[in-house]
Amino acid sequence: MGHPSWIPRIPGMKRPDGAAGGHPAGVPGGPDASEAGGPQPADVFKRQYEGGQAPWDIAEPQPEIVALEDAGVFGPRVLDVGCGTGETALFLASRGHDVTGVDAVQMAIETAKQRASERGLDVCFRAADVLIALPELIGKFHSVTDVGFFHALTDQQRADFASKLAEKLAPGGVYAMLCFSDRVPGAWGPRRVSEAEIRATFGGPAWRIREIRPSELRSAVEAMPIVDANLALIERAQ
Ligand SMILES: C[S@@+](CC[C@H](N)C(=O)[O-])C[C@H]1O[C@@H](n2cnc3c(N)ncnc32)[C@H](O)[C@@H]1O
Repeated sequence: MGHPSWIPRIPGMKRPDGAAGGHPAGVPGGPDASEAGGPQPADVFKRQYEGGQAPWDIAEPQPEIVALEDAGVFGPRVLDVGCGTGETALFLASRGHDVTGVDAVQMAIETAKQRASERGLDVCFRAADVLIALPELIGKFHSVTDVGFFHALTDQQRADFASKLAEKLAPGGVYAMLCFSDRVPGAWGPRRVSEAEIRATFGGPAWRIREIRPSELRSAVEAMPIVDANLALIERAQ
């Protein structure tokens, strides 16, 4: 198959299959979306984990997450939606939070559990679709973290997620979300998310938007180590 025209070539970059002259298939949020720049079904992520090095798995927490934790943003009980191999969840557990991580890809959850065991950390990791699992989780969370999950959702799923999230986040609790920004050029990879779209999803009376600002996502891809992101801190209204 030829090189798809919507994916810019990056000299020296390797494709997941090892071939040279690849494309930014490997940037955080994933390549290979069934619809370029669109919502991403679970099998897109599964294939990346099966490839051995998911492009977003930097084997440490995103610097923005560390900064938010240092600033005291996260409460005692935290949910990590789309936790992947668990680096955000494990970092927050290492700082004393009671953390639950949910991801749709079993292989990612197995890796997260293994990392937890190797580091002597206790995290509740669960393999499930977040949109199904949310209502089943017991009790409320003080905070919810999201690194690269929201931007994988369709418009309809965004609305569904926001209403289910509102049921699980304690009043005053914060949803901290990092997503691909609309400042990322091109149409490869995941869906870009603008500030206006975030405001549209969380504009109802259940929410108070504390802050939406430019940030960045680190990636495991040498040719593109940093990608423009939007950070949103959205509070569950009292
Ligand atoms: C870009 S990755 C980020 C993973 C992780 N947060 C990190 O920073 O390494 C997005 C993750 O969301 C997960 N995901 C996407 N849609 C999901 C859904 N509906 N339910 C659960 N997990 C989902 C994918 O399997 C993938 O692990």
